[in-house]
Amino acid sequence: MLRRMGLLDGKVVIVTGAGRGIGRGEALECAAQGAAVVVAEFDKDAGEAVAGEITEAGGRAVAAGGDVADAAVADSLVATAVERFGALDALVNNAGILRDRTVAKLSDDDWDAVVRVHLRGHFMPTRAAVRYWREAKRPGHVVHTSSTSGLLGNFGQGNYGAAKAGIAAFSTIVAMEGARSGITSNAIAPTALTRMTLDLMPEEFRSRREASIERGEFDFFAPENVAPLVAFLCSDASSHISGKVFGVQGDSVEIFQPFTSVAEIKNHGKRWDPEDLPGRIDELFDVAGVQPGAENMMQRMRYQILAEH
Ligand SMILES: NC(=O)c1ccc[n+]([C@@H]2O[C@H](COP(=O)([O-])OP(=O)(O)OC[C@H]3O[C@@H](n4cnc5c(N)ncnc54)[C@H](O)[C@@H]3O)[C@@H](O)[C@H]2O)c1
Repeated sequence: MLRRMGLLDGKVVIVTGAGRGIGRGEALECAAQGAAVVVAEFDKDAGEAVAGEITEAGGRAVAAGGDVADAAVADSLVATAVERFGALDALVNNAGILRDRTVAKLSDDDWDAVVRVHLRGHFMPTRAAVRYWREAKRPGHVVHTSSTSGLLGNFGQGNYGAAKAGIAAFSTIVAMEGARSGITSNAIAPTALTRMTLDLMPEEFRSRREASIERGEFDFFAPENVAPLVAFLCSDASSHISGKVFGVQGDSVEIFQPFTSVAEIKNHGKRWDPEDLPGRIDELFDVAGVQPGAENMMQRMRYQILAEH
């Protein structure tokens, strides 16, 4: 696994939720690029297995358990990186869960659990890392895990999408705040087939994929395909890139346009009368080319990807 010259030689990286799926791929790739990795994982056995895989291949890794949304656990991840490997250079916030329901059926618990793991689970390790970098006067890189569900919306994922859109906003703000001290912050919106997503795919698609893997073809949806971009964003080679949201799947890396205002109507320097708005509001949609009704941008993207692979 170890290369003589990697993008992350001598660096130390924390990856949360690194026991399986996308996080596992990220931990293995960071280690392959020369980093020592803190494998932060709720599921102790899964975390230790990944740390073991790295050390058996000649790399440096330690497993760290606990819920990353817990402040004490998050702080201990940074302390572990510093005590075991001497420093911290990058943090990959990846841990996450799904509890899909339409809003009308969504329970208080399913809202709270998803928002907690994603938003607090990104905030707590980021705060711990940023505090460390400020105090140590060192630069640092954070990679956050957003989702097209947050950026484009996705039916049945009100809790998850709200948290993932919040993560993209959080990343942008960490980037602004960190700019002066050399701290970069970027978000990814990955797509991969993992424990989280495999069951959501149509059976016909899954069997087509298995046949393609058997033929030795490139597995577009393998979770490991997300890792190269993340390893790059953890490295000093990406120091000029911050506050961005990247789409990543298969052999594709995309950049998302940030939320931006694309049209404006004004009322001649006077407060709007609500009764005037029905006659004027359509100007916004006409100029911007935006539909006034609910749009399903996710459906368009997903069908395109599934049709091609
Ligand atoms: N798979 C996709 O297509 C996809 C798409 C968009 C976004 N994402 C995001 O990518 C990330 C990884 O997803 P995945 O598909 O690899 O899922 P996964 O379920 O395979 O892996 C997630 C890992 O995070 C761990 N975890 C969950 N909560 C934790 C916590 N509080 N503390 C520590 N560890 C915790 C789990 O034990 C698990 O090992 C998630 O944030 C997910 O929302 C995935």
